[in-house]
Amino acid sequence: MFLVFLLFSCSMLPLSADELPYVPSDKLAMDCSPLDTPSYFRPDSKIEQNFSFSTVSRINDMEPHDRGEEPKTSACINRKQLTYTFSVSTGPKFVRLYFVPISYSGLKVSKALFSVSIGQYTLLTTSESSYYELNSDVGYFVREFCIITDGQILNVTFTPSSKISGAYAFVNRIEIVSMPSKLYIQENVPLPLIGRPSHYSMENSTALEMMHRVNVGGDLIPQPKDTGMFRLWTSDIDYIIDDEAETSNIESKVQIQSSSLKSAYAAPKKVYASARTVWNTFAGNHSARWSFPVDFGFYYLVRLHFCEISSRIHQDGERVFHVYINNQTAEDHADIFHWSHGVGIPIYRDYIINFSEPGEGIKHLSITIGSKNGSSATYEVPILNGLEIFKLSDHSNNLAGPHPFGVRNPHPHISDFNKYHHALHLVSYVLGATLFVIIILGLFSSIVSTFKDRENFKLGQSSGNYRIFSIAEIKSATNNFSDTLLIGTGGFGKVYRGSIDYGSTSVAIKRANPSSHQGLKEFQTEITMLSELRHHHLVSLIGYSMEKKEMILVYDYMAHGTLRDQLYKTQKPPLPWKQRLKICIGAARGLQYLHTGAKSTIIHRDIKSTNILLDDKWVAKVSDFGLSKAGPSAMSQSTTKIHVSTMVKGTFGYLDPEYYRQQKLTEKSDVYSFGVVLFETLCARPAVLPVEEIKEEEEYEKASLAEWALRCCQMGILDQIIDPYLKGKIAPECFRTFTDIASKCLADKGSGRPSMGDVLCNLKLAMQQQNAADLQEERGAKEANERMNGDVCIMIDGGRCICSNNSDKTPGVEFSEIMVPTGR
Ligand SMILES: *[C@@H]1O[C@H](CO)[C@@H](O)[C@H](O)[C@H]1NC(C)=O
Ligand SMILES: *[C@@H]1O[C@H](CO)[C@@H](O)[C@H](O)[C@H]1NC(C)=O
Ligand SMILES: *[C@@H]1O[C@H](CO)[C@@H](O)[C@H](O)[C@H]1NC(C)=O
Ligand SMILES: *[C@@H]1O[C@H](CO)[C@@H](O)[C@H](O)[C@H]1NC(C)=O
Ligand SMILES: *[C@@H]1O[C@H](CO)[C@@H](O)[C@H](O)[C@H]1NC(C)=O
Ligand SMILES: *[C@@H]1O[C@H](CO)[C@@H](O)[C@H](O)[C@H]1NC(C)=O
Ligand SMILES: *[C@@H]1O[C@H](CO)[C@@H](O)[C@H](O)[C@H]1NC(C)=O
Repeated sequence: MFLVFLLFSCSMLPLSADELPYVPSDKLAMDCSPLDTPSYFRPDSKIEQNFSFSTVSRINDMEPHDRGEEPKTSACINRKQLTYTFSVSTGPKFVRLYFVPISYSGLKVSKALFSVSIGQYTLLTTSESSYYELNSDVGYFVREFCIITDGQILNVTFTPSSKISGAYAFVNRIEIVSMPSKLYIQENVPLPLIGRPSHYSMENSTALEMMHRVNVGGDLIPQPKDTGMFRLWTSDIDYIIDDEAETSNIESKVQIQSSSLKSAYAAPKKVYASARTVWNTFAGNHSARWSFPVDFGFYYLVRLHFCEISSRIHQDGERVFHVYINNQTAEDHADIFHWSHGVGIPIYRDYIINFSEPGEGIKHLSITIGSKNGSSATYEVPILNGLEIFKLSDHSNNLAGPHPFGVRNPHPHISDFNKYHHALHLVSYVLGATLFVIIILGLFSSIVSTFKDRENFKLGQSSGNYRIFSIAEIKSATNNFSDTLLIGTGGFGKVYRGSIDYGSTSVAIKRANPSSHQGLKEFQTEITMLSELRHHHLVSLIGYSMEKKEMILVYDYMAHGTLRDQLYKTQKPPLPWKQRLKICIGAARGLQYLHTGAKSTIIHRDIKSTNILLDDKWVAKVSDFGLSKAGPSAMSQSTTKIHVSTMVKGTFGYLDPEYYRQQKLTEKSDVYSFGVVLFETLCARPAVLPVEEIKEEEEYEKASLAEWALRCCQMGILDQIIDPYLKGKIAPECFRTFTDIASKCLADKGSGRPSMGDVLCNLKLAMQQQNAADLQEERGAKEANERMNGDVCIMIDGGRCICSNNSDKTPGVEFSEIMVPTGR
């Protein structure tokens, strides 16, 4: 989270006229790593590196550099206590300290033992253990503090530990930026104390350390896009606990008013314009939950940013929900409209939570939004737009905790903290079965064509989400591309299993065949696509490497490989039906997000069982966006009307016949392919039988799973072709719902196929029917029956989708129209 890649080589983009940035009165920098200076930040004055102190030296890192390049990083090092003095105006300031903890020449990282203080405040203290878990190769670690200066001088003092001989202090950059008064440090303003019927007031001597700053439901917002204070807003994707929660991010066209902020400049409009919401499901409580790692022993300020961005809300009381902080009620009647007196008006609420009891390790601060008393009928679903969490200095003016470079939490939904990263098993393209043809038109090809030459290939700012790996790191991760680590081969190139960060993290490393121009295009599409997309059910890209002739993508490693690996031609035990259903639901969610959840409709174009990957928790992740295409903006059009003309690409056996005939690509082509995957899951056989497996003439009719399944469906003998393992294990209603929706996906014409939202809805219904049947079997309970009697499942995602289990009455197209999200 605190890894900031200084990628922003492009010049600062101007903010729109209606969002005039705050102009800080002080903007200072002391830079020890001039080559990496972020160009968006032009300090008013700079403390020169030509220090007159005999105690400080600028030392370069000792990594050998290829091609005789200049060393990349240097640091200011001091072995005796040293104070950097800045002359500033009075008022609150951000103090940002940048650290690149690597071995500088002649110095061991483990001897970088020091504390940093400003006046009476201790900001941070390092210890040997601070360096154990760090990835030190690429990132700057940035710590941000808020401090009120009373004088004209701000002294930042670095004190090497006196206990260890040879201890030294280092820093790579110090930034000082002023902020509006009372933005964060609000003296003597009573703030609700969570879990207590009392309030807590900060003193004017309180200093803050920023722990988390999140654009909930939106993308990372880089420093130059902040309201003028160069704050970094990260996406919430690493914090959301999404195991069973059904959340989705919404973006709104509603005009956000900036003038009416309780305090101006609180957050960029982009923070308020997007939110995460909770889908409304058939049964159960609708809540979304985030978890943020923090240190023990401090009070924290939690600021929640809200903005009503649905034009459906017209008055108080229409969207009312609960907010919990660490399972304690923070708001039992959160009503954004009521608070802000309208739609599009940002507001924030502050809370204090007391974590001051001492403890070891990491403490988790959770934030939950939930519908009031679990009922969705009464109110709109809850939303949250953004949040910030600050540590408050304690009574001895200390802010230093055990994690001087920040507490990281890349994947909090994995309870086991050491297993940060999931696994990924990329399996090859189906060689030869993939029809490669050239992209003619479409939003993407126009972007891609501007990237024609790899030399010109520059990623947008969104790529700031990614780590950039050096080829040396990749080689060390894969044991120099050792064949023993090879896990897949395909049109793009080879896929290796590797480990990074000193072996702590397993990754899948996809190395493009350097000679393949096709590979380059897909490489670019994949990065561009994935940089726009973050979802629990889409595979996530950790970073990439593009050095010399190499094009390499690094993903989370998926322990359970592909869905196909689990279904047939495998030594693995067969998957139980409900697990298959859960995988299908997960994949459908990922796909539905592509179709309706992102900025523009994304058509995957290569949905198949080998592109659905399973992590160690069996969570399905849609992968391989190399062929994906973005349609026109989803906001402006009904999703059913979008089509992108293009030459046919995809995989034989999964290919939409209409797309093949007319070369018109719509998101319904993915629905078709997904239908094939559904039957593959049910029948545990390939989409196309290999020729050598077809022995008898009449078996040709079975060759294509899609055709064969539809034929069996018409003949009413579908139950005869399912995976023998599943026979007698699927509840009849569930079977009917599942096969109904799977067959509808295979409709010859796209307009006859359901939307992914409808598919998802029906799969969930099938799951409920299976659950109800299991329950009934267990208990013979009447209760289960009653739960199922309301034969509709209702989902709301900005707009409404109503799905009945008697789906014959309501064809898919109509669903699609119902599905068009409002508020976009
Ligand atoms: C550093 O300062 C000294 C004395 O002011 C000056 O002679 C020298 O040129 C400076 N060095 C650099 C690299 O600027
Ligand atoms: C800042 O440091 C300088 C030099 O160490 C010292 O003379 C001065 O009094 C300090 N000022 C404040 C406000 O701490
Ligand atoms: C803080 O508050 C105290 C008393 O409330 C006051 O004397 C002091 O000047 C204040 N300090 C600042 C920096 O505002
Ligand atoms: C939903 O919340 C209510 C009240 O908080 C609780 O009684 C009920 O068990 C919850 N339902 C589920 C499915 O979690
Ligand atoms: C809050 O509740 C959740 C779910 O019931 C539980 O997993 C979590 O441990 C609780 N957290 C705290 C701090 O009590
Ligand atoms: C905060 O928690 C600590 C330890 O649990 C307790 O001693 C202290 O009284 C609490 N503070 C307030 C204001 O409740
Ligand atoms: C939920 O809240 C609504 C409105 O406050 C109330 O009418 C309803 O009875 C509540 N339901 C439950 C189960 O508490």
